[in-house]
Amino acid sequence: MLKMFKSDNTSGIHLKILEAIVNANVEHESAYGSDAITQKAIEKFREILGKDVDVFFVTTGTSANVIALSGALRSYEGVVALDSAHINVDECGALEKFSGNKIIQVHSDDGKIYPDIVKDTLEVLGDEHAVQPRIISISQVTELGTLYEVEEIKELADFAHQNGLYLHLDGARIANAVCALNSSFKEMLTDTGVDLVSFGGTKNGMMIGEAIVVFNDELKGRYHFYRKQAMQLVSKMRFISSQFIAYLDGVWEENAKNANEMGIYFAKELEKFEEIKLRSQVRANMIFAYMPKDLIEVLHDKFGFYITDEKNGLVRLVTSFDTTKEDIDLFIKEIENYYK
Ligand SMILES: Cc1ncc(COP(=O)(O)O)c(C=O)c1O
Repeated sequence: MLKMFKSDNTSGIHLKILEAIVNANVEHESAYGSDAITQKAIEKFREILGKDVDVFFVTTGTSANVIALSGALRSYEGVVALDSAHINVDECGALEKFSGNKIIQVHSDDGKIYPDIVKDTLEVLGDEHAVQPRIISISQVTELGTLYEVEEIKELADFAHQNGLYLHLDGARIANAVCALNSSFKEMLTDTGVDLVSFGGTKNGMMIGEAIVVFNDELKGRYHFYRKQAMQLVSKMRFISSQFIAYLDGVWEENAKNANEMGIYFAKELEKFEEIKLRSQVRANMIFAYMPKDLIEVLHDKFGFYITDEKNGLVRLVTSFDTTKEDIDLFIKEIENYYK
């Protein structure tokens, strides 16, 4: 059976995660997160992050983003994000519908926000006619498969705070980023000064589960309410939180390492063809490559992947925790056969 490269959520569930769910299925437990398993998972987050963070488990990355962002915004405030950001193009206007807050779009070619790009948007601060920028939202790994260095996140957090803004990080693939940069969750999130994180699990081998992590003391104490209003207070919470206990116990690293290694292997194999050009260096599990359109057609009939930009022949290939070299070799073989 051919594996897909559409996204890392086309994969299944790591067995240790399934085991954790089964183990949580023994006794009756209190509902809505007031159970011992959920408390243990929250403590686990605090341990790895080295900080007394607030943690709220939810079911999707979109809900994590929308709740995290809307909970920190007044009605007249907005989020500065890239035009390519998941919150801007892949969440069906969820933030705009749910809270009515505006996304203030900026652009960069490498999928990363820099202080200089945000500066222009801050000119309206204090102008009652304009939406007030209040949060900068970045994604790590970015939507273009690139990475922020730890130092760059710190610079953005400092810049945000100097201007009275918060920094939110969409970490749907945060484990891949931590592995790729040989860093740690504490170094990348706590020590940089990020205020809010949507901490992903589903894409890296969990069944269902994301967490809103609140670092900024000013923002603590409110998200219990916002999560419930957003219909994300899961009653049998322990089946999400038990996954995170196993996940943070090492599954995250084992899975992300494999996905990244396969991403890098895939990129190296693709680079061997002069007809194919990588959009940027591959360091994690997302590959963006320009390919001739006739080749894309042939590959697309056989393998699942997204054509990001049909006009320019840009495709996105994503490797997962269970991708193997053999899966990639089949893809490469198809290209070799095409050019034979
Ligand atoms: C950067 C990013 N953020 C968030 C999400 C979460 O999406 P979902 O609501 O599908 O779990 C995704 C999933 O594709 C993503 O790539």
